[in-house]
Amino acid sequence: MSKNKSFFLQVQHFYINCVYLILQYKYRQKNVFTYKEECMIAIEHLQKKYGAIKAVDDLSFEIQKGETFGLLGPNGAGKTTTINMIVGILKPDSGRIRLNGETDPTQKKIRRQIGNTPQALAIYENLTAEENLIFFGKLYNLCGKVLKQRVKYCLDLVGLTNRKDDLAKTFSGGMKRRLNLAAAIIHEPQILLFDEPTVGVDPQ
Ligand SMILES: Nc1ncnc2c1ncn2[C@@H]1O[C@H](COP(=O)(O)OP(=O)(O)OP(=O)(O)O)[C@@H](O)[C@H]1O
Ligand SMILES: [Mg+2]
Repeated sequence: MSKNKSFFLQVQHFYINCVYLILQYKYRQKNVFTYKEECMIAIEHLQKKYGAIKAVDDLSFEIQKGETFGLLGPNGAGKTTTINMIVGILKPDSGRIRLNGETDPTQKKIRRQIGNTPQALAIYENLTAEENLIFFGKLYNLCGKVLKQRVKYCLDLVGLTNRKDDLAKTFSGGMKRRLNLAAAIIHEPQILLFDEPTVGVDPQ
């Protein structure tokens, strides 16, 4: 091999190595990010105050896809406030929330992925169980056969099929909770948030 050719190959080898090292470094950096982005829910240093009351103080946790996570704490610990920040009802004072890699829970495409059963019932008392579910389904752009099937499936799941034509205001506390739950899952969300969903619900 000529001297020139050998020198050229060495330079080429050096150059390839440099590119490789830069890519490796970038890839590692990216991995640090993607780890968080792969989490369904990632909360970092979340804080929320109501006047002088510190409702949430530097809360961090991660929930992976497929994971069931229980947030436990006594009355006033800040559980509902945390959930309300995750779903975008409340704005954190500081900290970061990532839902399936996205930072803004108020975005339509993220909202579509969230099912939330609020602690306070969120159903319409003057609509029947079926009408409630049709209404919530339509909010998520469900219609026609798909909506019909989802309503049927959800009513069945929560054991309200035989009461589907009754007004929600005629339901017992536990039955209203069941309807609340059905309304949260009507659009097949990927992320389910339940805030005390079983209050008054018997194991039937
Ligand atoms: N809208 C509000 N205005 C003022 N203070 C509030 C408000 N909402 C909640 N708080 C206060 O924030 C703190 C946390 O309340 P939060 O409802 O998040 O607790 P929680 O853990 O869900 O309690 P519980 O188990 O009773 O449902 C409490 O001290 C509460 O009084
Ligand atoms: Mg609460």
